[in-house]
Amino acid sequence: MKLNEQIGKRRTFGIISHPDAGKTTLTEKLLLFGGAIQTAGAVKSNKIKKTATSDFMEIERQRGISVATSVMGFEYEDYKINILDTPGHKDFAEDTYRTLTAVDSVILVIDCVKGVEEQTRKLMEVCRMRNTPVIIFINKMDRDGKDPYELLDEIEEELEISIRPLTWPIGMGSGFKGTYNLYENKLELFYQENKQKAQKDSITISDLKSEELDKEIGKSDADILREDIALIQGIYEPYDDGLYKDGLLAPVFFGSAINNFGVRELLDTFVRIALSPKPRPTDVRDIDPLEKNFTGFIFKIHANLDPNHRDRIAFCRIVSGKFERNKFYTHTRLEKKVRFSNPTSFMANNKDVVEEAFPGDVVGLYDTGNFKIGDTLSEGEIFQFKGIPNFSPEIFKKLVNKDPLKSKQLDKGISQLTDEGVAQLFIHKFGNDKIIGTVGELQFEVIQFRLLNEYGAACSFQPVNYHKACWITSDNEEAIEKFIDRYNRFITTDKDNRYVFMAESAWSLKDKMESFPEIEFHFTSEFKTDQEYIKNAPTW
Ligand code: G4P
Repeated sequence: MKLNEQIGKRRTFGIISHPDAGKTTLTEKLLLFGGAIQTAGAVKSNKIKKTATSDFMEIERQRGISVATSVMGFEYEDYKINILDTPGHKDFAEDTYRTLTAVDSVILVIDCVKGVEEQTRKLMEVCRMRNTPVIIFINKMDRDGKDPYELLDEIEEELEISIRPLTWPIGMGSGFKGTYNLYENKLELFYQENKQKAQKDSITISDLKSEELDKEIGKSDADILREDIALIQGIYEPYDDGLYKDGLLAPVFFGSAINNFGVRELLDTFVRIALSPKPRPTDVRDIDPLEKNFTGFIFKIHANLDPNHRDRIAFCRIVSGKFERNKFYTHTRLEKKVRFSNPTSFMANNKDVVEEAFPGDVVGLYDTGNFKIGDTLSEGEIFQFKGIPNFSPEIFKKLVNKDPLKSKQLDKGISQLTDEGVAQLFIHKFGNDKIIGTVGELQFEVIQFRLLNEYGAACSFQPVNYHKACWITSDNEEAIEKFIDRYNRFITTDKDNRYVFMAESAWSLKDKMESFPEIEFHFTSEFKTDQEYIKNAPTW
């Protein structure tokens, strides 16, 4: 098969939702339809239970699951589908964000009872930053939820995206009778008593005036549906493929994942309209997936669960060309040749050695410590893919070594954990204090647990009073030197030795920004390349 055909058939996406809206259930149903799993319950939830903050085994269990479900690849009709899993827990929001840099589109699941929730909003902000196309699946229609019109208004308003329903529900909760597919003019009937059968009862009704509609769902519901459809056609603009692909319009589906209902329509529409892999920017030029030479970037690193084996799996999203096993590629940051003898592909719960892979695919590369998140692989050309920045963390703590004899182990451990993206490390210019920054409290427990278990290094954390970490730059070297001298107590360097100002409060940051106009304060680490990210940076 030619490269352009391989690219054309690939759909790489993430399913995102506020916890409990039904992400795991929907993922599982998609895998069932794709034949990647045979039984329900095969996909383990990677949810961290509420007890997790004090339950380290739960964190480890979750880590084990998250390797297995990081990428779920399967074939459906003529398409190769790659679902990239995202953690549901809010403390791992940055992990989710990084995974979303590797997808081409997303399906957003919303619970019809709860509507738009906190995580829904934040995840949508992330999609908006990169103009990722979004399809919305309103789940749990077998429950009495919010009125569909109210729900759609809420989505448009709170998620700041135009929408277009492609199916419309007939009733809800115990009165849920199914959906009408506006795209294909089909009635999909829902039978709660025979859940597996539900999906097969689809009846083409191209003229809603037809008496057949009354026969199928009863006169009263048929009349309501006629009114609803007329109203929808009046309120919402027709579906526009271009607007969807630009991330400006989200098609909406209604269904019930647990009952298999609405899932096939979602999948069928998804494969038809979703983006196949597109060009991606680097610091030098855009890379087109059709380019013959292989390129890819690392968006996730997973440490081995067995402390005796320090190797890690780096997840590489292929951007262009063909990836081949045992071929030498260039690690562009280190300008070093690397070769992979056991790259793995992921098919639902199975891992297999892969001989070749194409744009849109994700391969797992065994790594002994060469990779950091954001690293680029190429066939010799030196550049870095853009769009995988670090954000300013929200919580900061000072790392304290509890065993001075183990300081080497601690340094190595913390360096590797930060390469994996578990947290960010800032080192004070004076005094060398190590400050760990994260987006959630849970990460501190993960770090403490893993440093001890994997590196034999005991540590504790001391609170520090920082509000934000800002990368600072200036065209005027003197100005920056002066600033660093004056505020040296608050100056740290990040892993790449760039200066970072630790602001104690929003007020103090504002004050510095006003007093030092020659200095630029950046809220993400990718300031040199893309101002847009700063403007739209999420506020977690
Ligand atoms: P998440 O990954 O987004 O966190 O959600 P998950 O799929 O785990 O679903 C959360 C809960 O919602 C689960 O119930 C699941 O069974 C239920 N659910 C999912 N889809 C539907 C649906 O269409 N209708 C209804 N009524 N419920 C749905 P649970 O009790 O938390 O777990 P379980 O014991 O059922 O696994």
